[in-house]
Amino acid sequence: MRRRHRSSELLDTGSAGAGQPAKTVVLLISGRGSNLEAILQAQLPCRIAAVISNRADAGGLDIAREHGIPAIVIEHGKFPSRSAFDEALIMEIEANRPDLVVLAGFMRILTPEFVEHYRGRLINIHPSLLPSYSGLDTHRRALNDGVKIHGCTVHYVTSDLDHGPIIIQAAVPVLKDDTPAALAARVLHEEHRIYPQAISWICSGRVALGGDGKVNFRLLEQPAPPLISPGLD
Ligand code: GRF
Repeated sequence: MRRRHRSSELLDTGSAGAGQPAKTVVLLISGRGSNLEAILQAQLPCRIAAVISNRADAGGLDIAREHGIPAIVIEHGKFPSRSAFDEALIMEIEANRPDLVVLAGFMRILTPEFVEHYRGRLINIHPSLLPSYSGLDTHRRALNDGVKIHGCTVHYVTSDLDHGPIIIQAAVPVLKDDTPAALAARVLHEEHRIYPQAISWICSGRVALGGDGKVNFRLLEQPAPPLISPGLD
């Protein structure tokens, strides 16, 4: 991760802070696990205790095992209801007593009870600049609308699907001949940059969800350049 520190910025020391135990994180996945891999490779100031998938064929399970992290499968199809599945999921997550639960391509809608249980400790990455293009098929819909800038968002999860408080976003240009796959790849590259950053901020205490439902930042804002798309002459 790129870092530009200034004297007044709270430095990320790579740990949870002097004398503080590292925060414990559990990741939930359903698929290939490229965000999981980016998070594992970022060597964050936290302990990844387990990766749980609702699908036995999720590629991310192998990535977890390669990193020596317990890879657990809880198949949603084996439960009579969404709430029964979510209860089993909570039991498995709680065995690790996590400070943070990270949805990394977890393709199940969670019950309000689950979301409430993990209020302020549950984050997600979504492949659009929320609040635009919540839901599925975001890249095709963005291309159909002719938007010139698209991107991705890391946010706290609330029961309002894909509309929780925003932590960080990355924007990419939409190019003239883009296909959904080409645009998805450009966005995914940025997902792999912003998700580790968001987790690092939370685990080092620099970002938290306030009681008012807004994100509290203890960061010195790094000004980002404007993105104009198509570019000016
Ligand atoms: C990502 O595009 C993420 O934004 C979305 O699901 C996809 C997961 O990809 N929520 P991967 O499994 O991390 O490769």
